[in-house]
Amino acid sequence: MTTKPNPFTRLGITESPVILAPLAGVSDHPFRRVCTGLGADLTYVEMLSATALLFDSPRTWSMMKRHESEKILGVQITGRSVEELARAVSVLDKQNFETIDLNMGCPVSKVVKSGCGSSLIKDPENVFRIVKAVRESTDKPLSVKIRLGWDKQLITGLAVADAVEKAGADWLTVHGRLRNDDYSAPVDLEAIAAIKRSISIPVIGNGNIFSRADAIFMKERTRVDGVMVSRGALGNPWAFREIATGSSDVELEEWLIAVRNHLTWQQEEYGDQGGGAVCMRKHLLWYVRGWPGARKVREQMTQVSSLTGALDLIEQLAEHLRSERCSIRQETVLETGASRFQFDPKWDMDRSLDRGVGDDLMTAIQ
Ligand SMILES: Cc1cc2nc3c(=O)[nH]c(=O)nc-3n(C[C@H](O)[C@H](O)[C@H](O)COP(=O)(O)O)c2cc1C
Repeated sequence: MTTKPNPFTRLGITESPVILAPLAGVSDHPFRRVCTGLGADLTYVEMLSATALLFDSPRTWSMMKRHESEKILGVQITGRSVEELARAVSVLDKQNFETIDLNMGCPVSKVVKSGCGSSLIKDPENVFRIVKAVRESTDKPLSVKIRLGWDKQLITGLAVADAVEKAGADWLTVHGRLRNDDYSAPVDLEAIAAIKRSISIPVIGNGNIFSRADAIFMKERTRVDGVMVSRGALGNPWAFREIATGSSDVELEEWLIAVRNHLTWQQEEYGDQGGGAVCMRKHLLWYVRGWPGARKVREQMTQVSSLTGALDLIEQLAEHLRSERCSIRQETVLETGASRFQFDPKWDMDRSLDRGVGDDLMTAIQ
């Protein structure tokens, strides 16, 4: 039996990568550039809908935008049938992406109702047919992102993993929750470990990676090849640097440079007002966490309608912090040793945050 070449080596990245998840409404090129600058080995555009792509939706094409400085970029797609996904992947194969991921984990109702996302993992045989057909549509490294199963009655992770491997995918990403779980459910590391033991293609572990300690814990307990960071990167792209180096300190001046860069890149891409400003406001509300005075800035931030106005608030916060000689971002370190953002109720987001997921599909078929 011949062993497949390592897909990460093929992509020119480490065999044990730390990956920024595809994040709907978040992982556009300004945010990806910030994360790459801080050590993300691979990043993705937000999830696309195969139906929307085949309808030639302008929104889908705009979601695929890549900045010239991005050396490596993945694309993720979901769809409802073998035929649709195979056709969509042949389109993506001709675009400027180094790797393609099939989303079989998205729990959002409108996505699942249309037969996409995590509804696909209900039927491992169909997963096999999809991945096999898609495999024939592209020679690029191909991966699949799944959850452990639909609900407690339908835990299909092992059968799906087997189908994904046999159909020829290059690696599998496993979010260690069920479709019906929300973020308060723990990540089932034993189930991820069982999947890792059962297949020989690389496995990437996903779920509750907020810090280096979380990444190490996930790797030790499951033996996964690498990890994917999702909520852990929101407002904290330094998570990538921390995972790589162990240094969790974020200094005020470097924080300010990253936030300014992100804001400027957003402005260049979307203009100063409108959707771009709304999107950036969300990031800024996340960025100010951990700084004294954050609450006041958060309140003021909800009032501003332009990126210039938002930048003013950030500069004022920085000035205030300098005057208070506050130069390192504070973290909530829990006595239990648990991840710092994990049990913050404000941070324990539910699926409402996934708004925006599948919107390219909705726009295309309206
Ligand atoms: C705002 C947001 C958008 C998301 N968008 C996507 C997406 O487009 N594709 C995807 O595979 N997962 C998406 N997810 C799910 C995450 O990638 C990840 O699987 C999940 O949040 C579990 O990881 P975590 O506990 O570390 O956050 C999204 C999650 C959030 C919070």
